[in-house]
Amino acid sequence: MNGKTISHPPFSRPSKPKAGLLGIPSPATKKDLELRPPGFIYRNDDLCCESIPLARLAASHGTPLYVYSGAALRARYGAFEDAFRRIPHTVCYSVKANSNLGILRLLGKRGCGYDVVSGGELQRVLAVNRRASSRVVFSGVGKTAPEIDAALRANILLFNVESESELAVLVQRAAALKRKPRVALRVNPDVAVATHPYISTGLHEHKFGVPLAEARRIYGQIQREARLEAAGVSAHIGSQIVEPAPFCETVTRLAELVRELRSDGMTIRYLDAGGGLGIPYESRPEPDDFRAQVSAYARGIAKALGGARLHLLVEPGRAIVGPAGVLLTRVLYTKQNRGKRFLVVDAGMNDLIRPALYGAHHEIVPLSWDGPEAGSQRTSYDVVGPICETGDFFARARELPEIQEGALLAILDAGAYGMSLASNYNSRPRPAEVLVTGRTARVIRKRESFRDLVRLER
Ligand code: LLP
Repeated sequence: MNGKTISHPPFSRPSKPKAGLLGIPSPATKKDLELRPPGFIYRNDDLCCESIPLARLAASHGTPLYVYSGAALRARYGAFEDAFRRIPHTVCYSVKANSNLGILRLLGKRGCGYDVVSGGELQRVLAVNRRASSRVVFSGVGKTAPEIDAALRANILLFNVESESELAVLVQRAAALKRKPRVALRVNPDVAVATHPYISTGLHEHKFGVPLAEARRIYGQIQREARLEAAGVSAHIGSQIVEPAPFCETVTRLAELVRELRSDGMTIRYLDAGGGLGIPYESRPEPDDFRAQVSAYARGIAKALGGARLHLLVEPGRAIVGPAGVLLTRVLYTKQNRGKRFLVVDAGMNDLIRPALYGAHHEIVPLSWDGPEAGSQRTSYDVVGPICETGDFFARARELPEIQEGALLAILDAGAYGMSLASNYNSRPRPAEVLVTGRTARVIRKRESFRDLVRLER
């Protein structure tokens, strides 16, 4: 097995933000304009989530506010199920992307599995459905003994073990609890991907997994251990990867490893290809684009499996929940410093940290699109939050229609790694979350209060 690094060309590099508003046409033609199909659509110049104008949700629940479309979540999860229908598989939704119980429950009703990386995430899944543990995979480089115990007791589907030291602890805990867990090694396939360095994980210099070249030897140890079942192989090469090629390369390498392990006498049943499929943050996708992207991803993986009799696991997070959510925010103030124009909004980097942390691009659109100038004239704004950090921005030099104080904006594609990465920095209560289905809006997390902030303090 060769261990050389394969580099893939940048597909959609985390590029400089493009000017303009997603090519939104002039007012005459922008009726019923789908921004993130299905789910977010301009109807009569008002941005709606399914059948509900977002301005109405902002009025009744306040801002900043996370809003998710149930239809979008179902369609996006369904796209994975359809794409993989010809091979035995389980789609294990990656809980870290958005761990709200309402979202876990919605996806759970469609039969998904879950990828968890902590005892807390496991508890969330069990809180939604105790029986879902048979569809849970557990990854992470720093699993503690209590977390391992909880997963052993729940009899989860697969432990993705990331080091020999962790393996030793797992053996010890399995013996103590008299369990025989199914184990996969998370291997590091040394496949380079074009994504932000903070979310690329599949190279030997990263902390994740064990080197492919050492995997066979470590599997030998697992095989000799009566308390463990060598049941699978796994990898996760990174996040926001928009092309299938690196996934195919990874699965090719994993399938090769499976052949070696089987020839060593192990009954490997599962191949976990990880998550990481990216989304187009900077463009307006056509309704069928996503299905086509997931099909190409699935075809590539199926081909790389090469007929090996395996149950495939995939762990998408962002691709399911990212475009299904927006963050609503209100413009508190407009200001100008030497010709530079700012929109100071009521959401901050504590609510959505992706622009500050990764320089990530999120499209920003007004909730209401009135006035003839809206379609054509653009002003360049920095959209910034109220937090005392220069990094507290959502966009820099972004071309937007003229925006007034008090206007409402939607930050798009905020469903993944938005609320799950939110904090209370500057003693800001975290936003409420609302899940829309058709004409119904349900609060799936209340806005935090000052009391919530200090509840554990003495
Ligand atoms: N499986 C494992 C083992 C992971 O570490 C991750 C993400 C996933 C699955 C899901 O990846 P996805 O399908 O969502 O790309 N906070 C960053 C992303 C961090 C991803 C961490 N691991 C961001 O906002 O872009």
